[in-house]
Amino acid sequence: MNKYYLTTAIDYVNGAPHIGHAYEKILTDIIARHYSQRCDDVFFLTGTDEHGIKIQKTAAANGITPKELCDMNAQKFKTSWAGLDIKYNRFIRTTDEDHEKVVQHIFKKLVEKGDIYKHSYEGLYCSGCECFLNEKDLTEDGLCPDHLKKPEVVSEENYFFALTKYKDAIIKHIKENPDFIVPQFRANEVLNQLEDIRDISVSRAKNNVKWGIEVLDDPEQSIYVWIDALSNYITAIGYDMENPTEQFNKLWPADVHVIGKDILKFHSIYWIAILMALELPLPKHIFAHGWITIDESKMSKSLGNVISPTSVLESFNLETPDAFRYYMATSAPCGKDGNYSDEDFKEKVNAHLANSMGNLLNRTLSMLVKYFDGEIKSEFVPTADTELVEGSFSLLKESLGKIKVVENHFCRFEIAEAAQEVISIVDKTNKYVTDNAPWTLAKEGKMNECGQVLTTVLNVMCIISSLIYPYCPNIAGEMARQLSYDLTKKLDDVTLNEIKLGKLITKEEIKPVFLRVDSELADKSVKK
Ligand code: MSP
Repeated sequence: MNKYYLTTAIDYVNGAPHIGHAYEKILTDIIARHYSQRCDDVFFLTGTDEHGIKIQKTAAANGITPKELCDMNAQKFKTSWAGLDIKYNRFIRTTDEDHEKVVQHIFKKLVEKGDIYKHSYEGLYCSGCECFLNEKDLTEDGLCPDHLKKPEVVSEENYFFALTKYKDAIIKHIKENPDFIVPQFRANEVLNQLEDIRDISVSRAKNNVKWGIEVLDDPEQSIYVWIDALSNYITAIGYDMENPTEQFNKLWPADVHVIGKDILKFHSIYWIAILMALELPLPKHIFAHGWITIDESKMSKSLGNVISPTSVLESFNLETPDAFRYYMATSAPCGKDGNYSDEDFKEKVNAHLANSMGNLLNRTLSMLVKYFDGEIKSEFVPTADTELVEGSFSLLKESLGKIKVVENHFCRFEIAEAAQEVISIVDKTNKYVTDNAPWTLAKEGKMNECGQVLTTVLNVMCIISSLIYPYCPNIAGEMARQLSYDLTKKLDDVTLNEIKLGKLITKEEIKPVFLRVDSELADKSVKK
């Protein structure tokens, strides 16, 4: 594997980021970091979706220009992602000049090809979805089911994209590639939606929607947000119809688009048809994650339960975002909805990160200092032939074997499931320590046996630090520092014996890698 290109959805900038947006960026960052442990060239794209009627209206209501609103809010997203240690390669804004220019050319090319044509139209437009809805999609009261708002009747002459032309090819692609849409159960939903698709409007009259990219040669029309937004995946890496850049040729097709379940239709139908029309290869996977609820309720401004990621970090007084990243990433099985609650957050991160993982390292290193002055001796190292304490070598082998297991989960975007494997090996190792009681072995003078237990655990901890790194890069960094372990090692190069021989650590150098979330602070409500 020589490259891995992954993208998130680009967020609307008519508000500040909340933990639902953060969930997706954290998942994607974790996938990116995992693949950086497997290949040299990972490119992680995220950004903001800045055009459309919603932005135009919000800006007007606030007495500022759309561009001012976008600048202000795009910055909030960037600041939040920095606070969560989201390490993207490009943050694209759909108001970026290079993006706008290429979108105009894409549109023009599709007009020339006959895939985009002009047509008079009357339809029901939901500005929340930024799309036209069918009558049958509405609630009994005639509202958009997602936004519970009455769509506007819009009558305009628009450009239309010949989506129906690609219907059969899309159906064939989905059926022939069962891992194209992840999780697989969503593929059926898409196939059902494909049953009654029609050609889609891809522009709006400029006098209705001013805040949009102008159609070349037709200044009365603005390019409709979805064709603008979806194209970011290729414009960001240098797509240019005449002269595709070296970067584009190397990175495209994307390995995965990570998106929420609500926008799967746009990605697995509209975007795929656009790519087919442009005669470009298709992304390898579309991973639709579930939604995050708060205390089991849908997050919404009207319920006043919208939580920002920054407020969680602040109210729990977290020095690094690791605990929040870990909690979010493990909040739901692949593709299912997850939930955030203060109480659950506190319990889970204290149990997994402080009690199980952090304490295991801390007490093992403390015993190494106490019984061996911090030194690892070669005779302690368990091999198939030199096992002094039963189960040592098999624990090591099982831990190393987890790397493949975790990689396989990542291939299927099972991020929570992969973390579960890591915690299961932590639990097993804790049991191995309890069963073999190195403190008793030391008391009985069985020093080689005691040394072997500690060395086995520390070798396992090296593997664990590599595996937990994508979720908790700061904790993993601190673990690796205390273990003198090279965290930049590729997963393929990790061996059974990673712990360095000789003096490993002094008493002063040992410190907890994760402090329990302070319960008094945690009890305060964090909802803003
Ligand atoms: N701008 C479009 C996406 C264009 S992609 C070419 C959009 N923006 S959004 O801001 O409404 O949503 C951005 C992403 O955040 C989507 O993938 C959406 O599913 C995700 N989420 C928004 N609320 C969410 C939760 N409560 N939980 C999890 N993800 C959520 O759609």
